[in-house]
Amino acid sequence: MDKKVTVIGAGNVGATAAQRLAEKELCDVVLIDIVEGVPQGKALDLAEAAPIEKHDAHLTGSNGYEASAGSDIVIITAGIPRKPGMSRDDLIGVNAGIVKNVSKEVAKYSPNAIIIIVSNPLDAMCHVAYEASGFPKNRVIGMAGVLDSARFRAFISMELNVSVENTHAFVLGGHGDTMVPLPRYSTVAGIPITELMSKERIDALVKRTATGGAEIVSLLKTGSAYYAPASAAVEMAESILKDKKKILPCAVLLQGEYGFNDLFIGVPVKLGAKGVEEIIEIKLLDDEKAALQKSAAAVEELKGVLKKLG
Ligand code: APR
Repeated sequence: MDKKVTVIGAGNVGATAAQRLAEKELCDVVLIDIVEGVPQGKALDLAEAAPIEKHDAHLTGSNGYEASAGSDIVIITAGIPRKPGMSRDDLIGVNAGIVKNVSKEVAKYSPNAIIIIVSNPLDAMCHVAYEASGFPKNRVIGMAGVLDSARFRAFISMELNVSVENTHAFVLGGHGDTMVPLPRYSTVAGIPITELMSKERIDALVKRTATGGAEIVSLLKTGSAYYAPASAAVEMAESILKDKKKILPCAVLLQGEYGFNDLFIGVPVKLGAKGVEEIIEIKLLDDEKAALQKSAAAVEELKGVLKKLG
């Protein structure tokens, strides 16, 4: 393939993302992990599935970064996932150190790459990667909104018994309990869901979306969601690799947009070959503005924790 994507962290999200990237024949894939043998073993296993899955993407695994050199995109999933009872924010102490070191290696070996962050707490980890890599803001992008809106879409489709393909959903804000799903911009075949469901049902789906990650954690008990997170990261990668210019909700550095400064938070952006090519500003109603403000305050608080961690 003429494109190369490195996935750092060959665990649940990383390996699933590698599988999807290869099976969609988007790029060659390099899997990197600190555990010896795991990235090599998973890459070889995926390569051995290629004849059956009918793709010619090359997959390699490594414990070092040399193999990642010159990547077009690097997806960072390295870190620990949460267990039942933990919030994403509880991961900050461990994951900040991991994401910092990983981002420095990415900058060294793939200075022109676009980084997609998956490790949690997402918005805070974007700040860490942005600072450690020294990359411009259009090349550091957090995966959260695509996942959160996919969850909202899945719930809308279950509720109304319609194809998921007919659904569109809009979620703003940080990747946590304060995320801001916007029902009036969420549609089925172009019809706002506010026309199709009662306020009570919408509120229930909004709540389920905001706690969607925790719902999976409490079922799995040993880790967190990975099929949908991997799909979301790969949709972002595809839009960049193919320069599709999809409008997707992503965590990006705001400098003035939506009234925030120097803050990574989820907003709709245009993703193309240059990474973030445009931040789309939409007019929000007062209660939506207040909800976004609350979500931003939660990310600001984590920025404070990062400062203390040093
Ligand atoms: N460098 C490379 N890989 C690392 C490092 C590091 N410094 N530290 C940890 N890892 C690897 C682990 O060895 C493991 O294989 O990251 C992988 C994480 O995989 P899982 O434990 O399966 O976690 P996963 O479910 O994939 O979640 C990863 O994404 O969704 C978020 O909250 C989630 O922060 C978590 C991350």
